[in-house]
Amino acid sequence: MTTTIEEPEVRATLPRLNEPAPAFDAVTTHGALKLADFEGSWLILFSHPADFTPVCTTEFIAFAEIYPELQKRGTELLGLSIDGLSAHIAWVRNIEEKAGVKIQFPIIADLDRKVAAAYGMVQPGESTTEASRCVFVIDPKGILRAMIYYPLSTGRNMDEIVRLIDALQTADEHNVATPANWHPGDKVLIGAPRTTEQAEERVGEKGLECIDWYLCKKSL
Ligand code: BEZ
Repeated sequence: MTTTIEEPEVRATLPRLNEPAPAFDAVTTHGALKLADFEGSWLILFSHPADFTPVCTTEFIAFAEIYPELQKRGTELLGLSIDGLSAHIAWVRNIEEKAGVKIQFPIIADLDRKVAAAYGMVQPGESTTEASRCVFVIDPKGILRAMIYYPLSTGRNMDEIVRLIDALQTADEHNVATPANWHPGDKVLIGAPRTTEQAEERVGEKGLECIDWYLCKKSL
């Protein structure tokens, strides 16, 4: 069965990779914050459907657990849902009281949905009133570098979020790419040759582990 979305105003417009992340000026649990406040840091902007819901609560506890690891990587966290400030404040207090976990990062209260709309967080096929489980990785220059969209029913994998930051930072620092299931310490991929001459040179190049001329790994 196909779903017809009638309301064009709630149709999701997605931002694009490697373009400036949409600017915002938001009300948060840590006061007013804008995208420019995060310039110079990596930023993970993530959305959740609603406060005081089961999957979201497990995710918040898990985000709080990886926050120190992210900070070691120069990365800040910023949550968002289409809930008000009072709900956010009550929820983080409840998480601390019931689960003993302090939520140290800010959460946007996006009641007017301005940030959610700019980032295509509301996916009307799923819900017209809640944001989906989105993750946006924004680099220190404000460029959107990665997006992950998860459905309402699936809690996100925090190891993957930390791994994604490690992979992006490694790619930037060493001008390489990372293979499937890469983790820090594993070999990285070097770019495929662009000419037949480069392909010839690549075969037999010292320090490389090649499956063939187009797929070569090296240690960092
Ligand atoms: C949850 O966090 O449990 C949830 C929130 C919205 C829709 C479905 C599940």
